[in-house]
Amino acid sequence: MILPIYTLGQPVLRKVAEEITPEYPDIKELLANMFETMSKADGVGLAAPQVGLSIRVFVIDLDCLSEEFPEYKGFRKAFINPEILELGGEEETIEEGCLSLPGVHESVKRMNRVHMRYLDENFAEHDEWIEGYEARVVQHEYDHLDGKVFVDRISALRRQLIKGKLNALLKGKAHCTYKVKTPR
Ligand code: NI
Repeated sequence: MILPIYTLGQPVLRKVAEEITPEYPDIKELLANMFETMSKADGVGLAAPQVGLSIRVFVIDLDCLSEEFPEYKGFRKAFINPEILELGGEEETIEEGCLSLPGVHESVKRMNRVHMRYLDENFAEHDEWIEGYEARVVQHEYDHLDGKVFVDRISALRRQLIKGKLNALLKGKAHCTYKVKTPR
């Protein structure tokens, strides 16, 4: 089932999300719906707060990058209760976008390696260093679980330059092809 994507100005995007337990109702169905919603909107990542749920869950799908990076063929992962243990590697500046901020694309600086501990869709624990494009996406999604969005990480000057776009979103004006839930 396709879920509406909550856009900037929806309070849930600014909350620190809660961890879940294996008893969380219908988690498999939620993950399936999140994968479907993300794919329909051509996203590479989607966090639960973006579908209105303040829980520490996100999904990623890097298959669309597989032409350039063959290792991402069919690459889909779910992350439950992730923790960033350490950042490493080098700082990289890459343009990001977000399904909750349609029409906004800005360069963001992040480290290119991240040591993460998380549970998968079966609540099995993983502890790994994540690298490359996946490291970029998981850090963006992790931010959502802490109530942050990528434009919080750009310079004040850049933010000033895109103020009009951000204000339009806050007023509920979102132009995109997928189903959204805008603030009033
Ligand atoms: Ni996002």
